[in-house]
Amino acid sequence: MKSETVTITDNSTGKTVECPILKGTYGAPVIDTAALYKELGMFTLDPGFTTTASCRSAITYLDGEHGILLHRGYPIEQLAEQSSFLEVSYLLLHGELPTADEFADYESQIKRYNNVHEHLMRFFNGYRYDAHPMSIMVGVTGAMASYYHETVDVKNPEHRMQTAHRLIAKMPNIGSKVYKHGVGEPFIYPDNSLGYIENLMNMMFAIPSEPYELHPQAVQALDKLMILHADHEQNASTSTVRLSGSSEANPFAAISAGISTLWGKAHGGANEAVLEMLEEIGDPKNVHKFVDRAKDKNDNYRLMGFGHRVYKNFDPRATIISKACHEVLDDMDPNSELRPLMEIAMELEKIALEDEYFIERKLYPNVDFYSGIILRALGIPTSMFTVFFAMARSAGWIANWLELMEDPDFRIGRPRQLYIGSEKRDYIPLDKRG
Ligand code: CMC
Repeated sequence: MKSETVTITDNSTGKTVECPILKGTYGAPVIDTAALYKELGMFTLDPGFTTTASCRSAITYLDGEHGILLHRGYPIEQLAEQSSFLEVSYLLLHGELPTADEFADYESQIKRYNNVHEHLMRFFNGYRYDAHPMSIMVGVTGAMASYYHETVDVKNPEHRMQTAHRLIAKMPNIGSKVYKHGVGEPFIYPDNSLGYIENLMNMMFAIPSEPYELHPQAVQALDKLMILHADHEQNASTSTVRLSGSSEANPFAAISAGISTLWGKAHGGANEAVLEMLEEIGDPKNVHKFVDRAKDKNDNYRLMGFGHRVYKNFDPRATIISKACHEVLDDMDPNSELRPLMEIAMELEKIALEDEYFIERKLYPNVDFYSGIILRALGIPTSMFTVFFAMARSAGWIANWLELMEDPDFRIGRPRQLYIGSEKRDYIPLDKRG
C-alpha cells in the first residue's frame, strides 16, 4: 500500500523530506513536520497558528464548517440538555461519564475541597475596591500555587488528579469572593448541603443577615451556561495553560496564565464587550450605523460576539444559548430592563446575517453574543462575566493539563521564529553615537 506522506522539496538544493500524514478520529489530517528541520534545516511559519495542530488530544472535537462540538464524543446539545456542569467536568477529566457511585464519590470529593485557606482571603485586601474582577482572578488563582507547591509533584498521577479536583472545587469559591470584594459584602463560606451551582450562587448572592432563596430556573440557566463554556479545544487560553504547564510550572500558576489570556476581548472578554456594545447601540433603529462601522475598512470597530477563528458556520453553543436566553427572559418580568437589549441583539443578528460582508466572511454569532444577557438576567454585573467563563473553562484547562502531563511526547513547548532583525553589527560606545 502506498504510504501516506507529503513530499516537501527544497527547490534550491533539490533535497526532499517525506512527511507522514496523520489521521485522527475526525477532522483534517495533519502533516507531521518533525523531520523538516533535521532533513532540510527549515521551520514552518504560521502566525496565529491558523493551520498548526499543537498536540494530539482526545478531549474535545470541533468542526467549524458544520458547527459540531463534541466533548469525549458526546454532542454539546445533549450535554447541555441532559447533563450538569459537574458531570461534564468529570467527563472532561476522566474521559467517560461517571456511574452513579463514581459521581457520588466525585461530588463528595469536590465538596471536601471547596474551602480555601483562610490566609487566601487576605490577598483580596490588596486589590482596589474597583479593581477589574479578572485582575483579581489572575492574582488570587496564581496565589493558590503558594498553598500547593512543595506538596504537588506534577510527575505523580495521583497528585495531578487531586490538583484537578481541587481546582474545580475552589474556583466557585474564588470567583464569588471576587464579586463580594467588589460589592463590599462579607465572604460566604461553601454550604455542602447545596449542589455545585447552587453553592456558587449562594456564595455569590447570600448575605449573612437574611436567608437567600435560590431560583431553580436561574440555577438551571447558569448550569447550562457553565456546560457551554467548559472546554473548547486548543483555544488561546487552553494553549497558554499547556505551554506554561509544559515547563512543569505549578498547575495553579499555569491556570492563572490561562485566565490572563482569557481576559482579552478577542477571547473570553467578548461577553463583557457584547453587553457594552448593546448598551451603546441603545435602540434597534441604531443597529445599521454600528453594522456599517464594523464594515468600514477605515474603522477598526468590530461587532463583539461575531466571528470565530474555527467556526465558519453557526457556533452550536450560540444556538443553545440564544434559546436559553429567550427562556430566561420569558420566565422573568415582561417589563425587564433586559428586553430592549434582547431586541437590539436580535435585530443585530438579523441584519448582520443578511449582510454580504458578514456572509462572505462567514461571521456568525458566537457563544458570547447571548451569554451576557443571561448573566445579566441572573443579576451578575457586566465586569464579572468573564470570571464566569474562567470558572467554567477551568474544567477544560485542567483536563488539557492532565492530558499534556500524561502525553508520551511530553516536552517543553518551544516555538521557533523567522528572525527579521538587524544583521550582526558592532557595539558603538555612547559618546561615539549620533
Ligand atoms: N466584526 C466585523 N468584522 C469582523 C469581525 C467582527 N466581529 N470578526 C472578523 N471580522 C472580519 C475581519 O475584519 C476580517 O476582514 P477582512 O478579511 O476584510 O480583513 C475577516 O473578518 C477575518 O477576521 P480575522 O480577524 O482574520 O479572524 P480571526 O480568526 O483572526 O479572529 C475573532 C477571530 C473571534 C478574534 C474575531 O472574529 C473577532 O474579533 N470577533 C469579535 C470578538 C469576539 O466575539 N470574540 C469571541 C470569540 S468566541 C469565544 C472565545 O473563543 O472566547
